[in-house]
Amino acid sequence: HTIAWDPVAAAKGDYRHFMQKEIAEQPRALMDALRGRIDQERGRIELEDLRLSDDDLRRVRRIYATACGTAWHAALVAKFLIENLAGVRVEVDYASEFRYRGPILQSDGERDALLLAFTQSGETVDTLAAMEEARAQGAPSVAIVNAIGSQAARVADGGPLYLHAGPEIGVASTKAFTSMLVVAYLFALRLAQARGTLTPAQIREHIQALIELPGKAAQTIELATPICIELAERYHRAGNALFLGRQINYPIALEGALKLKEISYIHAEGYPAGEMKHGPIALIDENMPVICIAPRDHIYEKMISNVEQVRARHGQVIAIGHAGDTLLAEKANHMIGVPATLPLLQPVLNVIPLQIFAYHVAVLRGCDVDQPRNLAKSVTVE
Ligand code: G6P
Repeated sequence: HTIAWDPVAAAKGDYRHFMQKEIAEQPRALMDALRGRIDQERGRIELEDLRLSDDDLRRVRRIYATACGTAWHAALVAKFLIENLAGVRVEVDYASEFRYRGPILQSDGERDALLLAFTQSGETVDTLAAMEEARAQGAPSVAIVNAIGSQAARVADGGPLYLHAGPEIGVASTKAFTSMLVVAYLFALRLAQARGTLTPAQIREHIQALIELPGKAAQTIELATPICIELAERYHRAGNALFLGRQINYPIALEGALKLKEISYIHAEGYPAGEMKHGPIALIDENMPVICIAPRDHIYEKMISNVEQVRARHGQVIAIGHAGDTLLAEKANHMIGVPATLPLLQPVLNVIPLQIFAYHVAVLRGCDVDQPRNLAKSVTVE
């Protein structure tokens, strides 16, 4: 008599799904992304795997950030990080578009471009083709990648910046996404350090916020889970959902919508909140959950007025904001509070409730959370 031992079930441990496990692993993953890369005392970032010198980094005038799917949302966030911290222009492209549009990487014969590829698997065919295009034009590429020894890691001549998030099995990316944001943050700081756009004292402040981030991610999971379960019970029969954010949180709205649609099959759209009145507002009625990301940043007042506009059309507002924000709680139908961090790091925390919400909605709808229909973990053919 032999005891059946299922290695897959064993790897899942006490969790019902890999996605649930990977959401829970985020505090640990964020810590691992930071390990050995920050020197708080000296206010310095050390990225040993980066094969670019300070001189190389100073030569960079523009960055092309490219990726697919969830990783493309990380690239959109990275644009804000790099432009704000290091003062280098960033263009973001879907890798599948970039490779066919005949991109002009270098300006006027200068060698000043850098390609930044985001990929969990390191095997996505379009992302690899974008890296190939950069190579053909003499631009170094840096890959922000999870899978050790993957193709993207091997061909990145500027170096692979590993996430160290551990294997991600659920098709819907969670811990790889938040780790990508953290590694992109480190890269932006490293660039700022080389270019002198931030002083060591300023870098130290960013490092402090990064050190506090894993703990805040854990707090976010704790705060958000019971509310998300309640909200999932209430809204899992919805046919449509709208996710709104602005600025650096606009990509988080896109990511929230993608998570929900890919695992629960509810039609969901992410929109920059200011554009709502140019289309999606026509869809809002009392059956429509509208998830509004509204941390107290420079665009907070604008988000509040967007929340009011949704309520005026009887939409159901689920707000993601800073814990203890009573004004936002009053304006919204429901509120999920997350800890505050630096505005440029806030997306890492804001996305967590959206992952948890999507997860519970999908479970209640009886969907195959880890293996959604028609989707692959890594798209290695066109
Ligand atoms: C597929 C997966 C997504 C992932 C995307 C990019 O669509 O289902 O979760 O974001 O590929 O994958 P990569 O491995 O390049 O990050």
